Amino acid sequence: MTRFGTTPMGLIARRLDSRLSLEDEAVRAILAVPHRLRALRPSEHFLREGERPKLDSLWVNVLEPGGTHSGHLHPHSVVSGTIYVAVPPGAGPLKLEDPRLSLMMAAPQRPGTFVYAEPKPGTIFLWESWLRHEVPAGNADEERISISFNYRL
Ligand SMILES: [Fe+2]
Repeated sequence: MTRFGTTPMGLIARRLDSRLSLEDEAVRAILAVPHRLRALRPSEHFLREGERPKLDSLWVNVLEPGGTHSGHLHPHSVVSGTIYVAVPPGAGPLKLEDPRLSLMMAAPQRPGTFVYAEPKPGTIFLWESWLRHEVPAGNADEERISISFNYRL
């Protein structure tokens, strides 16, 4: 059975009561994303001079044991990311997909077509919003809690 992990903020406030300080840190880290983007090396820049991304949305994901989040991207955004609040042992990684795969060409699959990023509590992952990603099922016994967000221009 597939369980989706997106939960409205108000419904999970009580679950996070013991993690409020970490949640506060997560929100601060999310608000610092534009600063992090400006600190990228020149070869990593993808925004044009003067473009300032604005926080568009954020939401909390509570992924129950055995839960997954199928492959998707974040339309109408430029930068997306997730910061992890609770990552129990065995929780699934974030799986990122080479965008050439969705073009369905006959080229052989290359090493690195999929990248598996293993988060820890406090980890923040950022990616350009067109990058398809998913959360495969893990074998954790507890909920995995994270906060995802989108920045737009
Ligand atoms: Fe996502």
